[in-house]
Amino acid sequence: MTQTLASSLSEFADIRFTTGISIIIPTYKEVENIPHILERIDQLRRAHDLTLEVLFLDDNSQDGSAEAVAAAGYDWARIIVRTKDRGLSPAVIDGFAAAQYPVLVCMDCDLSHPPEKVPQMILALNTGQQMVIGSRYVPGASTDDDWGFLRWLNSVVATLLARPLTSVRDPMSGFFAMRKGDFDSVNDLNPVGYKIALELVVKCGFENVGEVPIHFTDRIHGESKLTFKEQLKYIKHLRRLYLHRFANAMYLAQFLVVGASGVVVNLAVLSLLLVMGLPETVCLAGGIGVSVLTNFLLNRRFTFSYARHGHLGKQFLGFLGASAVGAGVSFVMSVFLRSQITDGLSYGLHLAALGGIASGMIFNYLGNRFLVFRKTHIRK
Ligand code: GDD
Ligand code: MN
Repeated sequence: MTQTLASSLSEFADIRFTTGISIIIPTYKEVENIPHILERIDQLRRAHDLTLEVLFLDDNSQDGSAEAVAAAGYDWARIIVRTKDRGLSPAVIDGFAAAQYPVLVCMDCDLSHPPEKVPQMILALNTGQQMVIGSRYVPGASTDDDWGFLRWLNSVVATLLARPLTSVRDPMSGFFAMRKGDFDSVNDLNPVGYKIALELVVKCGFENVGEVPIHFTDRIHGESKLTFKEQLKYIKHLRRLYLHRFANAMYLAQFLVVGASGVVVNLAVLSLLLVMGLPETVCLAGGIGVSVLTNFLLNRRFTFSYARHGHLGKQFLGFLGASAVGAGVSFVMSVFLRSQITDGLSYGLHLAALGGIASGMIFNYLGNRFLVFRKTHIRK
């Protein structure tokens, strides 16, 4: 640890950092860590003659954090106490908005993230990177040994799920630097949970993201606030980011998943009614009726969830209309395929029917996406 510190300081000792740096530290009950992190940052500040500010964004911990910042007596450090919209990501966003310097750095308060890496991160920013992450997963990086298997697995799975969104090795890191200008120009930040760096990479559309290896130290004081509940929010966050990045493919995929669920519902209801001893035609009709209804509700609530506040009755009629037109398209298409294309092929009728089903479904999807659940239906 001491060695890492010494080598990184001497490596950069002769470089002058002319831009000011705003270091944003989200905090919740970190009173014991505040004096230590300020001391580490102060050493760094003096070693490199940095112009910086430290903003603690505290969610009203009421544990003496505000007093601890004041007692440290640094005129470049202050604490902003938040009382609304509690959470790590919103706190970081507020801090970035309040920052006064053109370079922003975000880090944990618990000293897991070595402040000594900040100069290297800023050098990387100055040589063309749009964002620089203090990374646990690039050569040269390490984590304290007592990371249990579960924590490791959790981290790996979370990172893999984000892979289609970014090639960054450690997009889950809470230690990163970027430009204030880039932050100011993005206006649709909407993170849930902890993954603020991932949110920024995706929403800012960053292509060049550098990673600087760090040694991730386990926190000594206090405990992690990353509860299981917070972790579950990641799934919700991922869905939002996938929708942002791959909007059309995501809507289609969700529509197909709902369609498949309709098949299951149809068959289940059919079987249930049969067991109840109803006539076969009633069972068939029941299966169709119920699955149309669940398809509608799931598409409204899930596939096209942005339209879930629209007029239910109008949407339902639209949905039925689109399905009827889709069925018509399917019929016309199969007749056409049968007479013009699959004539003479074995299973020609079945192939034609499949082609009809596919075109009916595409038509159905387009009708739902652009007419029934169109975006202009959203009420703010
Ligand atoms: N303002 C505010 N509000 N701060 C919070 C909140 C909150 O609701 N929850 C946590 N924090 C602060 C903590 O006080 C700490 O300074 C920082 O955010 C990170 O929280 P930790 O509790 O230390 O999280 P962690 O170490 O388990 O998680 C770290 O690793 C994750 C990846 O494995 C963090 O760096 C995460 O950002 C990162 O995703
Ligand atoms: Mn931490």
